[in-house]
Amino acid sequence: MRVFTDIDEWQVYRDTVQQRPLGFVPTMGALHQGHLALVDACRRQNATTVVSIFVNPAQFDDQGDLKAYPDHHEKDLKNLEDAAVDAVLLPSASQVYADNYRFRVSESEFSQQLCGAHRPGHFDGVLTVVMRLLNLVRPDNAYFGEKDYQQLQLIRDMAKAFFMPVNIVACETVREADGLAMSSRNQRLDKQQRETAAALYATLKQSRTARQARETLLEQGFQVDYVEDLADRRLAAARLGDTRLIDNVRI
Ligand code: PAF
Repeated sequence: MRVFTDIDEWQVYRDTVQQRPLGFVPTMGALHQGHLALVDACRRQNATTVVSIFVNPAQFDDQGDLKAYPDHHEKDLKNLEDAAVDAVLLPSASQVYADNYRFRVSESEFSQQLCGAHRPGHFDGVLTVVMRLLNLVRPDNAYFGEKDYQQLQLIRDMAKAFFMPVNIVACETVREADGLAMSSRNQRLDKQQRETAAALYATLKQSRTARQARETLLEQGFQVDYVEDLADRRLAAARLGDTRLIDNVRI
């Protein structure tokens, strides 16, 4: 497995990649089984698998959240090596944003709703970094989890709007035994919060309406940012203490 921290060196390597299709899994590190399922799907469907680890400052609306974001590079690299990944891109923010974020991708409708309504600038940061990473990696297929459902839809829409030559592949949410969607943020929950957290998935699934789901979550001690039904999905974001959890289910 090759690891690139320098973008110029990465670009030299990228020009030598012969084995196609090339699949790409962008991540912010702190890898869990959900990420490894994306890597696994990517490995099965592509001749070359590239993973990026980049904690993208532009998508953190809350600087405390950015600081608290777990950093496990050594363990992540070991997991990726075990998963037989071909190359890892681990660039610095100063190289990814050599323009100081002067140029950005901005979406004006869907990105303002749901999570976007609570996290100003978040999706512009996500779309901008995904555009930059896709331009650097030039994959045939790029893999994203359904847990971040709004992110997935926005990335799909961006790829279509800009005629980007990439196939966006969605992978199902991977869950803990009690139903909690895997997330790097779960590590921040204390024992009590971790027990309560499983109720998010169960409540979204079992409630008849979004309004009822919201009420049940409030009763269980969540602070609810939103619960909304959108086409065939029920989406929610709710906090336990300082930890913000998101999830969605098919309805
Ligand atoms: O889902 C994530 O981990 C991030 O939002 C992504 C897509 C890697 C962009 O930073």
